[in-house]
Amino acid sequence: MNVLCFGSLNIDYTYKVRHFVGKGETLSADSLSVYCGGKGLNQSIALARAGAAPFHAGAIGEDGRQLLEELGQSGVQTRYVRILHHVRTGNAIIQNDSAGDNCILLYGGANRAVTRTHVDEALAHFGEGDVIFLQNEVSMLDYMIEQAHARGLYVVLTPSPMEPDILELPLQFVDAWALNAIEAGQLLGRPSFASPEELAQAMHERFPAAAVLLTAGDAGAVYCKGDELVYQPAFPVQAVDSTAAGDTFTGFFFAARFRGLPVAQALEMAARAAALSVTRSGASASIPTWEEVQAWRPDGGSHNTAR
Ligand code: RIB
Repeated sequence: MNVLCFGSLNIDYTYKVRHFVGKGETLSADSLSVYCGGKGLNQSIALARAGAAPFHAGAIGEDGRQLLEELGQSGVQTRYVRILHHVRTGNAIIQNDSAGDNCILLYGGANRAVTRTHVDEALAHFGEGDVIFLQNEVSMLDYMIEQAHARGLYVVLTPSPMEPDILELPLQFVDAWALNAIEAGQLLGRPSFASPEELAQAMHERFPAAAVLLTAGDAGAVYCKGDELVYQPAFPVQAVDSTAAGDTFTGFFFAARFRGLPVAQALEMAARAAALSVTRSGASASIPTWEEVQAWRPDGGSHNTAR
C-alpha cells in the first residue's frame, strides 16, 4: 500500500500577539517566526514521523525550496512536487495569541496553480489499495477526488478551509473525513452541537458510506464508521501554539491504523501526538515522531520530547 498526500505547501509567517487584531486596529506583534506549513505538508510530515513513508504531490515557487528540504528530512518522498517559475509559494499569515490559539490568513500562490496534467502524472503511479490525503488548499480538488476514486484509491478529505464550493465536490467518493467540529458544523449547516459524538453521528447520517474522524479540541475526538463509534478524550496540556494540531492528529491516526493498531489505540496515539504538538511553536516544526509520542507522559511531561 502506498500513501500519497496531494496538498498545499506554505511558508507560515507566525506572529505572536496578545490578542487577534480587530477590525480597524493596528497591533504590534511580539515576535515573528517563519515556519514550514500548509495542511498538505503538515499531514505528510505527520504521516512520515509516524512511520507511514508517504509521497507528497503539490506545487511551490522558486522561493519555497526549504519546504522540499523539510519534507525530505522528515522522510517524505517529494518527486511529485513541482517547482513553478511564474508564481510564488503559498503562504499563511498566522496570529498566535497568548492562549495558544491561532487565526490564519491564506494566500494560495503555487498551490492554486496545480493543473489537471500534474494530477494525472502523479496519480498514474498509484492505484487500487493505495490511500490519498486531500485538503481544500489546492486547485483541481474535484478532479483529484474523482480520479483517485476511479483508480481505486481510498480518499481521505480534510474540508479545510471550509468554503461553500466544498459542497460542489464529488463528495460521494470520499471514503473518510478528517475534520474538526467547526468544519463539520459548517458542512452540515449546524451552528451548534451537544457533543463530538452527536456531531460525528450527524456526519455519519449525511455521509453513511464514509468513515468520520472528528476532532473537537479540548472536547476530544471521535471516530465513526458504520455501527462503530469510538470516543477519545483530549490530553490536557499547556497550549503554546495549536497550529497543525489537527494535521498531526490526522497523520498519526491513519499511520497508526496502517501499522495495524485498532481504532481505540490509533485514536489515543493521535490524541497524544496532537497534545504534544500544541506544546510547541510552529506547524511542521511542532509535529513529534512516533517514538517521542510513545515516550511522552501526559501527567509529568516526557521522557524525551526534545528533537
Ligand atoms: O493546519 C495548519 C496550516 O493551515 C498552517 O500550516 C497553514 O499553512 C495553513 O495551511
